[in-house]
Amino acid sequence: VRADAERSAAEPNLDREQFRLDWLGRKQGRLKAISDAWLKAAPVEAKKLIGQRFNELKQQVEALVDESAATAVKVEVRSLDISLPGSAHRPGAEHPLTKTMNELVSVFERMGYSVGIGPEVETDFLNFESLNFPPNHPARDTQDTLVLADQEQKPLRERLLMRTHTSPVQIRTMLAQDPPLRIVIPGKVHRNEAQDATHSPMFHQVEGLCVDTNITFSDLKGTLDHAMKSLFGSSMKTRFFPSFFPFTEPSADVQISCPFCNGKGCRKCKHSGWIELLGCGMVDPNVFKAVDARRIELGLEPKYDPAKISGFAFGMGIDRMTMMKYSVSEIGLLFSGDTRFLSQFA
Ligand code: PHE
Repeated sequence: VRADAERSAAEPNLDREQFRLDWLGRKQGRLKAISDAWLKAAPVEAKKLIGQRFNELKQQVEALVDESAATAVKVEVRSLDISLPGSAHRPGAEHPLTKTMNELVSVFERMGYSVGIGPEVETDFLNFESLNFPPNHPARDTQDTLVLADQEQKPLRERLLMRTHTSPVQIRTMLAQDPPLRIVIPGKVHRNEAQDATHSPMFHQVEGLCVDTNITFSDLKGTLDHAMKSLFGSSMKTRFFPSFFPFTEPSADVQISCPFCNGKGCRKCKHSGWIELLGCGMVDPNVFKAVDARRIELGLEPKYDPAKISGFAFGMGIDRMTMMKYSVSEIGLLFSGDTRFLSQFA
């Protein structure tokens, strides 16, 4: 009883240890004194009874010590020592791919483009047919397509697949909005490719589309040249080569002078001084026709008469650009989620 009263009176944190020593201390604790004076000196016939009482007292004291230790823990957790050094929180960082995409997108936003997105699972119509890839056309073979299971019973244009490029969002935009329009579309795309150091079955593109009256190939050249100079510096040059895409005519591949060696030749540009960065071209009239045909099917007014409007489109791979920019040798690192890699971009 006395032990309990004394424990309650004790300042929980300061006197807790003192209370423990007073009672349980091995040399001068009260239990030791009681044991010496009563238990050890007891006559044989009383030893059992005194031993029992002694153990009860000892258990009581130990329980009180445990109990006050528990409340002490609570008090300590709540108290704050502001003189201690803080614990370091490592801040999150933008993923290098996101960084590149955001930089590119904001260059186009400054030119008045808005941002659009679309789904990664697309219909055959939006990924291929409307973009002037007719059914069974060999151009489809260039886009190693991953198709969803159990689509065979559907009509071809409704079959679902993983989009192989961001170009279907061109069509989605023209079905939803009237011209004029200027839009950039960042996103993931999928192709049936084995992963190696530079290829991945999932990668990223930024697509662009501009439709208005009297849009010409020089608008395309000027826009892309300006965008690349904003990204890589004003001394960078661009050059355009004839190319082919079913949905643009004429089509071009664009190279930039190597930003690492200023076009002199280095390992990054394989000593050519140039790096190929994107595909582009003037929107093929067949794309506008497919859009208007679909708009009529959907009960919308056709607004994309190729006799009245024209446009250009471009698409670029972001992963390769990012790898080049940050000297990343394995594309897989971009998708590994490995914080040893990612923390370098903090
Ligand atoms: N969609 C094309 C590709 O993935 C790139 C592109 C987009 C080319 C727009 C021209 C115009 O390869």
